[in-house]
Amino acid sequence: MTHIVTGAAGFIGSRLCAALLSRGERVVGIDCLRDYYDVALKRANLRNLSDHPGFTFSSEDLSLGTGFIEGMLPPEEHVVVYHLAAQAGVRKSWGSHFSQYTRDNITATQNLLEWAVHRGSVGHFVFASSSSVYGIPSEMPMREDVTVPVPHSPYGVTKLAAENLVRLYGSNHGLVWTALRLFTVYGPGQRPDMAFSRFVRCAMAGSPITLYGNGDQTRDYTYVDDVTRALVLACRSPGGLVMNLGGGIRVSVNRVIEILEGILKTRISVNRLPVPPGDVPDTWADTERAGRILGWRPEFTLEEGLAREAEWLVSV
Ligand SMILES: NC(=O)c1ccc[n+]([C@@H]2O[C@H](COP(=O)([O-])OP(=O)(O)OC[C@H]3O[C@@H](n4cnc5c(N)ncnc54)[C@H](O)[C@@H]3O)[C@@H](O)[C@H]2O)c1
Repeated sequence: MTHIVTGAAGFIGSRLCAALLSRGERVVGIDCLRDYYDVALKRANLRNLSDHPGFTFSSEDLSLGTGFIEGMLPPEEHVVVYHLAAQAGVRKSWGSHFSQYTRDNITATQNLLEWAVHRGSVGHFVFASSSSVYGIPSEMPMREDVTVPVPHSPYGVTKLAAENLVRLYGSNHGLVWTALRLFTVYGPGQRPDMAFSRFVRCAMAGSPITLYGNGDQTRDYTYVDDVTRALVLACRSPGGLVMNLGGGIRVSVNRVIEILEGILKTRISVNRLPVPPGDVPDTWADTERAGRILGWRPEFTLEEGLAREAEWLVSV
């Protein structure tokens, strides 16, 4: 069996590839190395994978087509797809950037789904969706079955559109699928635009961090290795479900800063800015479904995971 990982050079995708390769699996990685953040980080992620004999890689752009994929696979090979390629990030998804989000999050997903149903031997299509699909729900924690998702950002709209495409290729064409709604993922390799990475790098440089709002906003944080474990478990599930993946508790940004001050043994000074459009006040995942269906539960506490991310950032 071959595992296709899209977004393989990115934060979560590269970590997923490494986890699969360490189990002796064959992995085809696809990533067109968008320059949304420093491409050197993506190249470094790929260097760590490319020595492995089980890894092959393409830098093709999935929004332009999928004709190249077949040539990377043995004929008739049974495959599973983990579709993580996307234009991530809430704040940049407004204005002229939106066309990039529609290309990478919607068109690329539809291209890959067409390829998957025509190939026929795709055992499972696992999609990395996002907590951003929920917007500002009236009930907490966020639950897959009771909340009608109304995203609060253009990014969330594109992730919900992609999730719905995955769902309808399942209902119309028999594709077996799972969509995992990831809640703020962190850990070694985290994207440099994300808060923890920015906070640690500023604290190490002795400069103030930029904090949007008063810091009372809460997030449910998920450690990257807990996410990759769930992605792998998902492809063994019966499929046809959306599932939340979160740490299961929500923590304020002010509390995160306190934890980081303890880990880095330094005072962190804060430069406050207004909350940008698209940011939601709170996220909190109900993870009962992932626990019941996948036998998954998060294993890393925020304190452990943050310490590991800080250790990684000091080392790079
Ligand atoms: N990091 C999080 O907290 C988080 C939370 C919720 C959902 N997600 C989802 O998880 C996935 C991975 O996120 P990440 O944080 O690792 O992001 P990332 O930006 O590090 O990785 C995504 C990768 O996809 C690639 N890509 C984009 N468009 C492509 C295309 N058209 N063809 C081929 N490759 C393309 C990019 O070059 C990038 O390397 C994304 O789908 C994202 O929406 C992430």
